[in-house]
Amino acid sequence: MLTKNIDLSNKRVIVTGAAGFIGSNLCMELMKRYKDIQILGIDNVNDYYDVGIKNDRLSKIVGNSQFEFVKGNIADKSVIEKAFNEFKPEVVVNLAAQAGVRYSIENPDAYIEANLIGFYNILEACRHSYDADKAEGGYKGVEHLVYASSSSVYGSNKKIPYSTEDKVDNPVSLYAATKKSNELLAHSYSKLYGIPSTGLRFFTVYGPAGRPDMAYFGFTNKLVKGETIKIFNFGNCKRDFTYVDDIVEGVINVMEKAPDENENGVKYKVYNIGNNDPVNLLDFVDILQQELISAGVLPQDYDFEAHKELVPMQPGDVEVTYADVTPLQEDFGFKPNTPLREGLKRFAKWYKEYYG
Ligand SMILES: NC(=O)c1ccc[n+]([C@@H]2O[C@H](COP(=O)([O-])OP(=O)(O)OC[C@H]3O[C@@H](n4cnc5c(N)ncnc54)[C@H](O)[C@@H]3O)[C@@H](O)[C@H]2O)c1
Repeated sequence: MLTKNIDLSNKRVIVTGAAGFIGSNLCMELMKRYKDIQILGIDNVNDYYDVGIKNDRLSKIVGNSQFEFVKGNIADKSVIEKAFNEFKPEVVVNLAAQAGVRYSIENPDAYIEANLIGFYNILEACRHSYDADKAEGGYKGVEHLVYASSSSVYGSNKKIPYSTEDKVDNPVSLYAATKKSNELLAHSYSKLYGIPSTGLRFFTVYGPAGRPDMAYFGFTNKLVKGETIKIFNFGNCKRDFTYVDDIVEGVINVMEKAPDENENGVKYKVYNIGNNDPVNLLDFVDILQQELISAGVLPQDYDFEAHKELVPMQPGDVEVTYADVTPLQEDFGFKPNTPLREGLKRFAKWYKEYYG
């Protein structure tokens, strides 16, 4: 196990994407655990999906004396410069991004803007946090930059489980290409300017107030409307579904340990955070519909069989994907552990409360 070298209890932390699914949960948990932590959340609250869900998440964190919110675009350099110059963050967690694989065909500009220009602005701001004129009051600049990458960087790799040792030079979507680029940009900035950075490749995150563009949420909406859901490869696809609290736990563990210099003299790390327990898609939707019935989202006599259609694999899809989380376990003694049924139960309960 690594020895933690950052005590978050009285740190100033910037979290971008604070109105997002993972960002809002992270902010909540940080404030619960560390009474003197100060968080500056940045998010442009865009309408890629239901803004009501983002506002609802924000309502749970805004108003807390430990939290300040800036509504702004990370691709706007002046927003980021102002935030860094005034707030002087010691830890930065960059979660703001345009997510989703399919939407990158429809609106590529959003990915270049948020994921490349936005991330570049964050790196530049981290770099300049060490400038001599910023050192007022003993400020030492950014001690750790943690940023979201994605399991999508593994593209159509055949070797499983996916390991951070694997070659990931063949992205199959613009989204994946931007996430891999983030890792490359972070590496160069860590090398050039000594910014300790850790990239996290998340594997399909789910939970209450999650993203409506993701399959489990879309399935739920369709089942509620009485529509039929399509299950690819006749349900014989296995995926790693990771509960949001496990992701938050992983992010907090990582935040507390800025990487030491590696063999190339760079303070740089990348980890997978996934459940390491692939679930068959058919079992996943079966548990989902059971929990939706228990929560009263679907009626007791819901005919699930009539609302599912088993279809062949889509070209380019991979049968089984899941994360090798050995490095996370070895370095932090932590591995996601929320059982799927428990996570889906909490999602179903939230769905019932939110949509009535
Ligand atoms: N949820 C997953 O399954 C998953 C998997 C892999 C990687 N990730 C990555 O994790 C991070 C968080 O994901 P999430 O699921 O919480 O997504 P999310 O879409 O709920 O959160 C992202 C937030 O960033 C904000 N945002 C987008 N562009 C912005 C910009 N230019 N300026 C300021 N704010 C902007 C959005 O309004 C949103 O609230 C993202 O980087 C995503 O790519 C998520």
